[in-house]
Amino acid sequence: MAGRIKADGQKLRILDPAAGAGVLCCAAIEALVSRDQQPGTIKLVAHEVDQDLIAPLRAVLDYLADWCHDYGVTVTIRIEATDFVMTHAEVLRTLDQLFPSLSEVEHFDIVISNPPYFKIGKIDPRAMAASTVVHGQPNIYALFMAVSSVLLREHGDFIFITPRSFTSGPYFRRFRQVFFDMIRLTEVHVFGSRRDAFSRDEVLQENVIVSGIRQDRWHRSEPNAPLIVSSSRGVRDIAESHRREVTINKVFNPASPDRILRLPTRDEDEEALALVDSWPSTLQSLGLNISTGPVVPFRATERIGKEGNVPESHVPLLWMNHVRAMQATWPLDRHKPEYILRTGARTLLVPNRNYVLLRRFSAKEEARRLTAAPYIAARFTIPEVGFENHLNYIHRPGGTLSEDEAWGLAALYNSRLLDTWFRTINGNTQVSATELRAMPLPAHHTIVALGQRTKHLADPMKNLDGLVMKLVTHPDLKEAVVA
Ligand SMILES: C[S@@+](CC[C@H](N)C(=O)[O-])C[C@H]1O[C@@H](n2cnc3c(N)ncnc32)[C@H](O)[C@@H]1O
Repeated sequence: MAGRIKADGQKLRILDPAAGAGVLCCAAIEALVSRDQQPGTIKLVAHEVDQDLIAPLRAVLDYLADWCHDYGVTVTIRIEATDFVMTHAEVLRTLDQLFPSLSEVEHFDIVISNPPYFKIGKIDPRAMAASTVVHGQPNIYALFMAVSSVLLREHGDFIFITPRSFTSGPYFRRFRQVFFDMIRLTEVHVFGSRRDAFSRDEVLQENVIVSGIRQDRWHRSEPNAPLIVSSSRGVRDIAESHRREVTINKVFNPASPDRILRLPTRDEDEEALALVDSWPSTLQSLGLNISTGPVVPFRATERIGKEGNVPESHVPLLWMNHVRAMQATWPLDRHKPEYILRTGARTLLVPNRNYVLLRRFSAKEEARRLTAAPYIAARFTIPEVGFENHLNYIHRPGGTLSEDEAWGLAALYNSRLLDTWFRTINGNTQVSATELRAMPLPAHHTIVALGQRTKHLADPMKNLDGLVMKLVTHPDLKEAVVA
């Protein structure tokens, strides 16, 4: 991270908003002092809220100053033993003003940080103080990123190590709108293993090192700026990272309100992005919608059970484990309640029509993130059916999907192509309806053709990837369907 600092000059001001024991700011300053063109003076401001860490931090930074002095560089140090977000969040308010007057605010040439990561409640004082970037349940690290960006001077360096979650998903949407107006990313390193990078902290999601520069409204002046995307499994293999350069407009659309940042780490990812992005449809344009299963078991304990009389008094209740790739199997006769009472549960049930069922969570090391199955109404003689809350289901409001549509869509979602596309935008194990709504889909006739080809197969997952690629890339679809 220290090696990514680009700022130079005689006087440099560095901010570490979550300094801990000072390891990261020491590395940053050591890197600057080791340059051929050393700065003359460095001013370091280090925030740390944990009072037990202040004495060791001071000892470390005093030692650092002495060391720099021996190399001819003067370092002045200010330790702020206060909450960084509470102390500085008001700078976010200047963003609402047409002509922000930031003359009073101290600006930095470099912000470098390994901020804390944890969720905070909406009424946490830090979330209230930084409300401009908060939506739903915020994670404190995004508040550190937002406030730090405002404290950076124009063209200053922004270098953070964080979870990958801010790059997509609705909770970080407001944050992305503010952050990506200020910071133009230049390099993102993805730690592919959810265990390796921070195994000590048990952070079970992908982490990233992001670097960028403060350049307000960069999307107007430099829409095709280069972005380096690199990846490694963890820290140990970081020296052998796989690096690739993309232009930022391929992975980020500033005009979209979602402002998702996609991270293609392999050639295959970029090819999948290009192909899927060229598709003409979405769920909405096909007249479809996606909803979350309405049955929350702990709120419906009276209505659900391990036995039932179908269809007289009960109908099937489908959970995640009833859904495997291309196959919805009910009943399973396992330990979970698979039956739901019909009476008094109407709002929890949906009519027995054709749907596509999708798991909302993938198991940690599962091969694919998306697991989908067609739910074919004709298989069950029931008036309604129950879907548990860990499932999403695709439906046609006011109508039904055809069987071909249900099979075709399920085949697409289970394909390696859409899995690859999805992984470029999502680093965690959740599959949100918002992301699926934003996912491009091929033309309607391609989906139907795929459904026709897969619905009679004994094992539709066998050769599924080949079939999907053939249909979505074939210029003459009829030929491909017959072949
Ligand atoms: C991941 S550690 C940083 C480690 C540090 N980079 C180092 O090199 O030792 C995050 C630090 O942020 C501190 N912290 C947590 N919330 C804070 C806040 N609101 N303001 C300032 N520091 C905070 C924690 O006490 C912790 O020491």
